Amino acid sequence: MFERIVLHLRLLWALLFLLSVSLAAETHPLCPQSCRCDAELLEVNCSLSQLSTVPSDLSRDAIILNLTHNKIKTLLHQQFQSLRQLLHLDLNDNLLEVVELDAFLGLESLQFLDISSNDILVFLDFTFQDLPALQHLNAADNQLVFVSRHAFTGLNSLQELHLDACNLTAVPTESFSQLTTLRSLHFHCLSLTSLPNYAFHYLVQLKELIISHCPWLDALSGNSLLSLNLTSLTITHGNLSVMPYLPLHHLVYLVSLDLSFNPITSIQGNLLGDLLRLQELHLVGGSLLRIETRAFRGLVNFRLLNVSRNRLTTLESGAFQSLTPLKTLILDNNPLACDCRLLWMVQRRVYLDFGRNLPMCSSSLHLEDWSFLEFSDTELSGLLTCQQPQILNCKPQRVKVNQGQTVVFDCIAEGDPTPSLSWFNPQLRPVSSTGRIWVLTNGSLEVRYAQPQDSGTYYCLASNAAGNDSLKVSLQVRPFLTSRKSTFHLGGWIPSSSPDVNGNHELTFDFKTLLIAASIGFLSFFSSVSVCFIFMFLWSKSKGHIKHTATIKYVPHSTVSTSARGNGNYMETSRFTMKLL
Ligand SMILES: *[C@@H]1O[C@H](CO)[C@@H](O)[C@H](O)[C@H]1NC(C)=O
Ligand SMILES: *[C@@H]1O[C@H](CO)[C@@H](O)[C@H](O)[C@H]1NC(C)=O
Ligand SMILES: *[C@@H]1O[C@H](CO)[C@@H](O)[C@H](O)[C@H]1NC(C)=O
Ligand SMILES: *[C@@H]1O[C@H](CO)[C@@H](O)[C@H](O)[C@H]1NC(C)=O
Ligand SMILES: *[C@@H]1O[C@H](CO)[C@@H](O)[C@H](O)[C@H]1NC(C)=O
Ligand SMILES: *[C@@H]1O[C@H](CO)[C@@H](O)[C@H](O)[C@H]1NC(C)=O
Ligand SMILES: *[C@@H]1O[C@H](CO)[C@@H](O)[C@H](O)[C@H]1NC(C)=O
Ligand SMILES: *[C@@H]1O[C@H](CO)[C@@H](O)[C@H](O)[C@H]1NC(C)=O
Repeated sequence: MFERIVLHLRLLWALLFLLSVSLAAETHPLCPQSCRCDAELLEVNCSLSQLSTVPSDLSRDAIILNLTHNKIKTLLHQQFQSLRQLLHLDLNDNLLEVVELDAFLGLESLQFLDISSNDILVFLDFTFQDLPALQHLNAADNQLVFVSRHAFTGLNSLQELHLDACNLTAVPTESFSQLTTLRSLHFHCLSLTSLPNYAFHYLVQLKELIISHCPWLDALSGNSLLSLNLTSLTITHGNLSVMPYLPLHHLVYLVSLDLSFNPITSIQGNLLGDLLRLQELHLVGGSLLRIETRAFRGLVNFRLLNVSRNRLTTLESGAFQSLTPLKTLILDNNPLACDCRLLWMVQRRVYLDFGRNLPMCSSSLHLEDWSFLEFSDTELSGLLTCQQPQILNCKPQRVKVNQGQTVVFDCIAEGDPTPSLSWFNPQLRPVSSTGRIWVLTNGSLEVRYAQPQDSGTYYCLASNAAGNDSLKVSLQVRPFLTSRKSTFHLGGWIPSSSPDVNGNHELTFDFKTLLIAASIGFLSFFSSVSVCFIFMFLWSKSKGHIKHTATIKYVPHSTVSTSARGNGNYMETSRFTMKLL
């Protein structure tokens, strides 16, 4: 009887034990309500669970904790203390405003932390000090207004940092000084107009810098990227209107440069040559009008040019150091003039990848709205043509003028593409577009106030991709002395010379000029003399010890006068006082 009772009890215990074990297996005691736990992956998925706080009953073994898309406002003191195995903590898209001190205490294995898309305003000192293994920190899309100097202290393994700088008034250069292992920095949004000098001074290991969405960023200071040794630089959606040649030039290990969505208008020749290892340039959606010849000179490994969505009318092969390494050329959505300047692309088209959208012709007689790459070689040799320049006013011009006159020589040329005009002086040096002798915007040469030494033969050279044509003009300037005799007339005050077709210009010096000059001279002479006198007067007034009156004694002629009679002192001398100036 007793034995049976014992047996029953044993069975009961065994049953209870089995029950408890099966219960434990069914509902994992350490998976919080409203979360989903994957025991094999040790992943706790509390995403989209309407949580307003971090659940407290989390498994100590968890490796991934997903708290995205909730309503958590605060990370409390020592909240995650037990999660010593956790590698990945995702808090994206919550309402985080406050990260308490020691909030991350205990997360000694954590490698990935995502706190992006929250409302954090400040990173205080030592916020991340308990994360020695953290490699990736994403804090993008917050409203950071302040990053304290020691905020990143303790992040001894950090390699990648995403930061939102929309509301920061400065680059937190000092805070970055803690991040000596950082290799990649993403700056989302920057409200600065100019990237200051030495902004990333301490990031000696940084290889990749991405600055995006900075609508006010007009310029990079000359030393803003100094001490960086980047392989990849991206500055997109900014307001840069010129290529930052100077700030970049020391980045000799740079492989990829992306300046897309900046209103840059040209890439000038010979200015990128220091970037010896550059392989890729992306400048999509800019305002590029020109890529000058030799723009990529010195870039022997240059293999990708991505300039879609610009305003380029052509791209000449002379822009590249060598066409052999070039593998990818993205040129769609540019108003290309399809002529002989693009023939090189056709010749190399088997080696070149033009991307998904082919380049299209926008101004061409036969090819408008076609891609020239869709034609065969034989068709194209007749379609991608140029017309050699021809100077229309090709009669030799000989002009004799008097010294001081102004002469204009025209040079009118036609050709396809429109030829560029340049002038050369008698010493065969190019005439610039400034100075006394200069090239006007319409291509004419103007010699202002001609001097005898300006005499000689000038050349106009009209050239385009198809060839050149030239024009000679000769100028003879008679010296001033002989010219005065010939154009001397009294009433002729002409403020500026009026050019006429033959280049005969009236001299501006005449008799009246001399008269006026002389009278101005006299006037100034007199005024300076008067000023001298006034000064002498004032000086003499200021000298207190000089007598201002003089008393002169005299004896009147008639010593006996009627009035003085009986006065006794008629012999007394009279005086008069004279005031001295
Ligand atoms: C986590 O849970 C959310 C919501 O149920 C789900 O959409 C998501 O796919 C889950 N994530 C993983 C990695 O299982
Ligand atoms: C967390 O879940 C979301 C979906 O709700 C997913 O997009 C995200 O990648 C997950 N995070 C991690 C670290 O798995
Ligand atoms: C941050 O800047 C955005 C616009 O750039 C603004 O709407 C927001 O109010 C700013 N936040 C703070 C906290 O200043
Ligand atoms: C961008 O720069 C231009 C001048 O280069 C200026 O007129 C414009 O206001 C700037 N845009 C912004 C958003 O600052
Ligand atoms: C710069 O970086 C390259 C590779 O990215 C490296 O080979 C070179 O040693 C670095 N130079 C300096 C001065 O750190
Ligand atoms: C060209 O640049 C744009 C913008 O940076 C990018 O999205 C695209 O992938 C690039 N194309 C190639 C072929 O690299
Ligand atoms: C070019 O401009 C100058 C000055 O405006 C004028 O004298 C000249 O005739 C112009 N030339 C042509 C070819 O239009
Ligand atoms: C002009 O064209 C000729 C061939 O037609 C060429 O020999 C000459 O070098 C060219 N001159 C210039 C300055 O380009």
